[in-house]
Amino acid sequence: MTSTPSRQPLDTLGRPVRDLRVSLTDRCNLRCTYCMPAEVFDHGHTFLRKDQLMRLSELDRIIGAFVRCGVRKLRITGGEPLLRAGLVKFLHGLRRFPELEDLAMTTNGLLLPGFASQLAAAGLHRVTVSLDALDPEVFGLMNGRGQHPERVLAGIEAARAAGLGIKINMVVQRGVNDGQILPMAKYCKSKGLVLRFIEFMDVGNFNHWDPSRVISGQEILAILTREFDFDPVPPTCRGEVAQRFRYRDTGLEFGLITSISAPFCRDCTRARLSADGRLFHCLFASEGYDLVGALRTKLPDEESLDRLVADLWSRRADRYSEIRSQAGSFPKVEMSFIGG
Ligand code: GTP
Ligand code: 5AD
Ligand code: SF4
Ligand code: SF4
Repeated sequence: MTSTPSRQPLDTLGRPVRDLRVSLTDRCNLRCTYCMPAEVFDHGHTFLRKDQLMRLSELDRIIGAFVRCGVRKLRITGGEPLLRAGLVKFLHGLRRFPELEDLAMTTNGLLLPGFASQLAAAGLHRVTVSLDALDPEVFGLMNGRGQHPERVLAGIEAARAAGLGIKINMVVQRGVNDGQILPMAKYCKSKGLVLRFIEFMDVGNFNHWDPSRVISGQEILAILTREFDFDPVPPTCRGEVAQRFRYRDTGLEFGLITSISAPFCRDCTRARLSADGRLFHCLFASEGYDLVGALRTKLPDEESLDRLVADLWSRRADRYSEIRSQAGSFPKVEMSFIGG
């Protein structure tokens, strides 16, 4: 077999593609109010049918093309990726891409107790677990299913026992879980867990986003300053999403993800693939390119697939978070469809 030449396309703003985020399913066992509000997703929302999902063998080929175009980080997301059948076997298969330096998964943690050791054995490096509150009432309301935080904490401990790296994501909403900033920081610090505070974003079409409900990274820092001493950590590479900080006493890090107050599009090196195989170049896109459709109909070999991926990337111009105020309103893709 002849190997295809590697390409390293740059988009129209000079950004390379380094990070591929793949949604394996648009379904989830939670209904977080900021992502899949139950009043919308439990009533009349049409989820993808099984036969509409990209096959994992197709995904494997697409990942190969992205790796040859420069991708070095792969994140598996959903919906909830642990709901996708065949996931563990698929992860095992990724060993044939040694170029992937970082193999991570975003999950709500509920199913981790049953999966963590299999995931680690399959070669997954780390998980990012979403947890927005420790208070059962606040968490139950935010996750839309009344789930107790203890279940997620058990998932986190299972990931730790399996030797997986762990980060915790907390989406902060004013008047909803801002009272949980300090308890979450204290808990994560005591357990040695890296916590990232995420500004509530205007993703999707149904989460009632309003600027007044965003707590900015600066406000979060002001709250943390009351209890902790910490210093900023300089970025280690281009395109880092989180601004990082380090507690002076333990050296543990935490992060802020400030897509609203301090956008980071300039260095955005992320491509996203939905569970039905559409390629999105921005979290805030309306339309994706039907890459799996193209793969099935008109891409006979890896060379033509690579050429298409490189060509699509080289035409990319997205920078939504930087132009949010001028963007006006338009139908956006749902985050549960293309992943966090
Ligand atoms: P690491 O790989 O651990 O560095 O993860 P990350 O910093 O890329 O963060 P993660 O993948 O956990 O994403 C955390 C959250 O940041 C997501 O759930 C989104 O809310 C937000 N986020 C991630 N990537 C983007 C992006 O490209 N644009 C915007 N606007 N937000 C993003
Ligand atoms: N704002 C910010 N982050 C969001 N996520 C989902 N919806 C939003 C939103 N509206 C992110 C969270 C969660 C991941 C799965 O998606 O980080 O942990
Ligand atoms: Fe599910 Fe994650 Fe969305 Fe919550 S944020 S509904 S856990 S996909
Ligand atoms: Fe990248 Fe779009 Fe997010 Fe900007 S808004 S950082 S271009 S995904």
